[in-house]
Amino acid sequence: MLAIIGGTGLTQLTNLKISHRQVMRTPYGEPSGPMTFGTINEHELMFLARHGYGHTIPPHEVNYRANLWALRDQGAKRVIAVTSVGCIRPDLAPGMLAVPDQIIDYTFGRSFTYFDGKDKTVTHIDFTKPYSEKIRQQILAAAKRAGEKCVDGGVHAVTQGPRLETAAEVNRLERDGVDMVGMTGMPEAALAKELGLAYATIAVVVNYAAGRGNSRDGVPLETIGAVISPAMERVKSVLEFAVSGDGD
Ligand code: HPA
Repeated sequence: MLAIIGGTGLTQLTNLKISHRQVMRTPYGEPSGPMTFGTINEHELMFLARHGYGHTIPPHEVNYRANLWALRDQGAKRVIAVTSVGCIRPDLAPGMLAVPDQIIDYTFGRSFTYFDGKDKTVTHIDFTKPYSEKIRQQILAAAKRAGEKCVDGGVHAVTQGPRLETAAEVNRLERDGVDMVGMTGMPEAALAKELGLAYATIAVVVNYAAGRGNSRDGVPLETIGAVISPAMERVKSVLEFAVSGDGD
């Protein structure tokens, strides 16, 4: 089954015909909220709001391990994660959608693996390609069918938050080859990989990163809401086409 993780601005899927909600517990604690099950165009899926339904859980306090575990426990095989980002690459601008193909992880202090504990044998995962290429292509094909422009590829940096970056940090990210920066993509992507879930991200550009574009003298946080709402409507229409993809 497909699972959708909603980020900032996407705490519910209004086009989802809800069948039921389920409170979940996992060996790693409680996920961000109850799992919502339902259908879009007859296709079954489950939905989880990463920051909780009231948007109360900041990026560094999300229980990523519980979230991914709960999705898998309920039969998810594919995951489409929606996340907001600031843009660095010059051809990106607020309001645009992108499907990144690489990640650089700048987070710290988060519970980032299922493979810890002294009683477990040492386990590594290959993370050369952090996202499922199949799911990425499904999202891009869905965007095409929905008539929504969606940038194919890009390096997604994940910072610790909850503060935004300094201008110098954004310059460093650019030197590192980063195209867009958010706060929630890791350890989510790595945990999905550890669980064998096919996972990819729709990144929604909601601002110019610090020191760039109209964020030259500060990120205008008060304008982000006006960008997010219409962009998330476009994400929803992409998702309507993405739910019909198979691809486990
Ligand atoms: N930086 C980090 N995370 C973000 C940003 C940003 O500029 N915009 C949205 N999430």
